[in-house]
Amino acid sequence: MNTLPSLRIGSHTAPYPIIQGGMGIRVSGAGLAAAVANAGGIGVVSAVGLGMHSPYFDIEEKNPKIRQTRFFEANRLALIDELQKARALSPAGILGVNIMVAARDYETLVQTAIENGVNLIFSGAGLPLTLPALTANHPEVALVPIISSLRAAQVICKKWQRQHNRLPDAFVVENPQAAGGHLGAKAEDLGDPAIGPEAVIPALVSYLAESFEQPIPVIAAGGVCDRPSLLHALSLGASGVQIGTRFIPTEECDADRRYKEFHLKADPADIVLVPSPVGLPGRALRNAFVDRVNRGEIPGAKDQCFANCLQVCKFRDRRETYCILRALDRACRGDVENGLVFAGNSVGGSSHIQPVAEVMAELVGVTG
Ligand SMILES: Cc1cc2nc3c(=O)[nH]c(=O)nc-3n(C[C@H](O)[C@H](O)[C@H](O)COP(=O)(O)O)c2cc1C
Repeated sequence: MNTLPSLRIGSHTAPYPIIQGGMGIRVSGAGLAAAVANAGGIGVVSAVGLGMHSPYFDIEEKNPKIRQTRFFEANRLALIDELQKARALSPAGILGVNIMVAARDYETLVQTAIENGVNLIFSGAGLPLTLPALTANHPEVALVPIISSLRAAQVICKKWQRQHNRLPDAFVVENPQAAGGHLGAKAEDLGDPAIGPEAVIPALVSYLAESFEQPIPVIAAGGVCDRPSLLHALSLGASGVQIGTRFIPTEECDADRRYKEFHLKADPADIVLVPSPVGLPGRALRNAFVDRVNRGEIPGAKDQCFANCLQVCKFRDRRETYCILRALDRACRGDVENGLVFAGNSVGGSSHIQPVAEVMAELVGVTG
C-alpha cells in the first residue's frame, strides 16, 4: 500500500516523493535516472563532465585552446546522448538534470537540457540566479535550486521574483552534516545544529508558506537511506526527499561495478571529509587518494589543467588540491583507490547490489 504522498513540482507529479540526486561523473547517467523514474520517483542525470570519456573528446589533444573548446562541445553532445538514452528507457517517467552553477559551460548545458526534453533542472554549487532567464521560453521545465541555508533560499526567491517574475518550483535542502559530495558548509561549521535539517527545513517551509501564495515544496537531501529516515524528513515538513548514496549499489547505477562494490562493503566508519578544488569540503570514502590529499599531497600535481572546467578551481589557479574531473572520472571507471569516491554518512545501507525497483519498494513500504 502506498502510504506516502505523491510529489508535485511545477506541472510534474511523481507517484512517490523520492528524487534520485544527480551524481557526477557518470554515477547517475541514463541508466540510474530512467530506473528511478520508471519506479515512480524522479530520476536525475548529472551533467558534469559527461564529455570526458565520450567519443567526442580526446584528452591527448596538444593545443590547449582546441582541447578546451572540444571539451565543452563534447559535454554538450554527450549530454544530448545521455538525455535521449534516458528518455528512450523511460518514455513516460519524470526526468531531470543536475547542472552545477560552478561549471564554466553552465549556460550551454542548461540550454541543451531544455532542448532535449528534461522535465526539471536541479542546480546548486552556487546560486542559480540566471536560471529563469536561460529557461524563459520553456515554462514547462521546473526549476529547482539546491541550497543549504534559509538565507540562500531567500536571496534566490527575492532575485528571481524581482528580475524574472518567477519563483522556484521547489527547493532541495542539502544537509551538509550527512550528504555525499560537495558540502554547502565549511568543515568547522558542520557540528552546528543551526545548519541541520531539524532547523533549516521547518524554517524554510514556514518562510515559503508565509511569503508566497503558490506552494513551493521543500525536498530534504542528505542521510535519507531507508523508510524511517524518509518518514523523519517528511515529519520535518519536507514534501519529498533526495537520495544519492543509497542508489549507488544498484544494478542500474551507471558507475563501474568496482565503484558499486566499494560502496557496498563500506560503512559509516569509512567516511571522511576531503578538501576540493572548488574550496568546499566533500564527503567521500576513505581510500589511498583521499589519504594522500588529507596529508597535503597533490595527486597528479604534474598533470596540466586540461579543460578549464570550473569558474573557481584551486588546482588550475594555484596548483593546490587535485584535478577533480580526473579524480571523479577515475573512480567511477573503477579505479577506486586512485580516484575520488563521494559518499554520504548513510553508506552501507544495502546488503547486495540491488535492482532500483527493489530499493524503491523498500523505501515506499511495499516490500514483502
Ligand atoms: C557520488 C556522488 C556524486 C554527487 N555528485 C553531485 C553532483 O554532481 N551535483 C550535485 O548537485 N550533487 C551531487 N551529489 C549530491 C547528491 O545529488 C545528493 O544530494 C546527496 O547524495 C544526498 O545525500 P545522500 O548521499 O546522503 O543521499 C553527489 C553525491 C554523491 C554520493
